[in-house]
Amino acid sequence: MKIAIYPGSFDPITKGHLDILKNASEIFDKVIIAVARNGEKKGFLTVDERVKLIKESVKDFDNVEVDSFEGLTIEYAKQHGAEVLIRGLRAVSDFEYEMQLSQTNSALCSDIKTVFLTTKPKYNFISSSTIKEILNNGGDISKFVPECVFKYLTQNK
Ligand code: COA
Repeated sequence: MKIAIYPGSFDPITKGHLDILKNASEIFDKVIIAVARNGEKKGFLTVDERVKLIKESVKDFDNVEVDSFEGLTIEYAKQHGAEVLIRGLRAVSDFEYEMQLSQTNSALCSDIKTVFLTTKPKYNFISSSTIKEILNNGGDISKFVPECVFKYLTQNK
């Protein structure tokens, strides 16, 4: 059974993330979306809120699980029997950071490979930060996030 971990901050999950996840779920037997608890970024949503919204967003995928983790991603992957980390690539600007991350992970554990997937072009420009900025300035984020995230953010943030 090929298990892949899709790690990230998902603050919040977007339609771009879901597009990557859909592709990953068609390639791997099981995909675990893992929300990093100790990321460097200041949280907008709590990790528990993110996990809840991701669970709601992925409820139609039968081979996807949602979890959170602390510590190194590769340790989490090993504990869950995963050999692959999924990362999304949107634009050339993602490349340098993603290359560094994947090579660091590979230096820490050569058994675990990173697989990069791309989103549909219409999601290429989305990021969680731009969604937060649009929301904070009263703009419409409904095109960019799953419906449950739209409802939650417009009612609670
Ligand atoms: N659609 C929309 N947005 C996307 C996207 C997609 N398909 N793919 C990436 N993004 C955006 C995210 O929204 C996020 O935007 P933001 O910067 O505005 O918040 C940005 O791209 C990158 O976020 P994400 O993919 O969530 O990665 P991250 O950099 O926040 O998290 C971890 C990286 C958590 C995977 C990494 O830090 C990690 O593994 N941490 C654990 C410790 C560890 O093992 N470190 C590595 C060895 S030192």
